[in-house]
Amino acid sequence: MIKTRFTEMFGVEHPIAQGGMQWVGRAGLVAAVANAGALGFITALTQPTPEDLTKEIARCRDLTDKPFGVNLTILPAIKPPPYAEYRQAIIEAGIKIVETAGNKPQEHVDEFKKHGIKVLHKCTSVRHGLSAERMGVDAISIDGFECAGHPGEDDVPGLILIPAAADKIKIPMIASGGFGDARGLVAALALGAEGINMGTRFMATVESPIHENVKQQMVENDERSTELIFRTMRNTSRVAKNAISIQVAQMEREGAKFEDVRELVAGQVQGLINDIPTCAVLVSRIVSGAEEIINGRLGGMVGKRVAVAAE
Ligand SMILES: Cc1cc2nc3c(=O)[nH]c(=O)nc-3n(C[C@H](O)[C@H](O)[C@H](O)COP(=O)(O)O)c2cc1C
Repeated sequence: MIKTRFTEMFGVEHPIAQGGMQWVGRAGLVAAVANAGALGFITALTQPTPEDLTKEIARCRDLTDKPFGVNLTILPAIKPPPYAEYRQAIIEAGIKIVETAGNKPQEHVDEFKKHGIKVLHKCTSVRHGLSAERMGVDAISIDGFECAGHPGEDDVPGLILIPAAADKIKIPMIASGGFGDARGLVAALALGAEGINMGTRFMATVESPIHENVKQQMVENDERSTELIFRTMRNTSRVAKNAISIQVAQMEREGAKFEDVRELVAGQVQGLINDIPTCAVLVSRIVSGAEEIINGRLGGMVGKRVAVAAE
């Protein structure tokens, strides 16, 4: 068992979250993550209407008694979805944990907090983490440049971003982007985070609702198999590299939008994905592997240095 301020705050067994994933964060996967003792998030905007979201939450409750949350992502859009209505559906369903992401979440954070909901805000820079902290969120999830989806425009990798954020942010913070195994969890804890958030790694699990061929392709891909698109629009997205994304990079010059590539998102952590386990196997092997690294390899190194110093 690895206990952190994250596990305490959200009432979950393990310091691992499955962040919101458009088209992937549905009840089946989220319930499997919850049953594995980690914290999964249904992605609100994957559901075509707020009523569908209410049904998806109910479906998830049929599959698990453990805590889970809902992700509400606020992105710039020509025709924005009815955010306030999705927010109301989340509140009325009695959800107790929300992951917010994207621009200017203040009104949503205020409303969630008014209803006693814990808010985990996902951001990609120290300054946005600090402003979310001032906004009153309960915890931060911080995404390094490695991540799938929206890495922001600063291009700071997790090795720098996580300790830089840990130096300044006081509320619990989990590290996101590029995590997929026990070594990553130990590294995140060492860098000052209270746990990890994973997207890509959870896509390649038995319960993930994507096509088997896509999962298999993720196993075959390596860490170089992603592409950054929409840089020119300052709305950068990291997606899987394939004939289509190469074409999307080309289409960018002709004005393509995120919706055109939504199923193609994947992060550099593909280079560490070698199988398609169940969520239960994945979570338990990350946690038990992390314990082994901490107590074994790392503990052994400390012992050796003390012995040398004592000679
Ligand atoms: C297919 C996919 C869709 C995603 N959609 C969203 C989203 O709608 N909202 C959001 O906040 N993050 C989204 N993300 C980002 C993840 O929640 C998470 O922050 C990211 O995947 C972490 O990086 P990793 O993939 O290296 O683990 C998405 C990620 C993937 C892989």
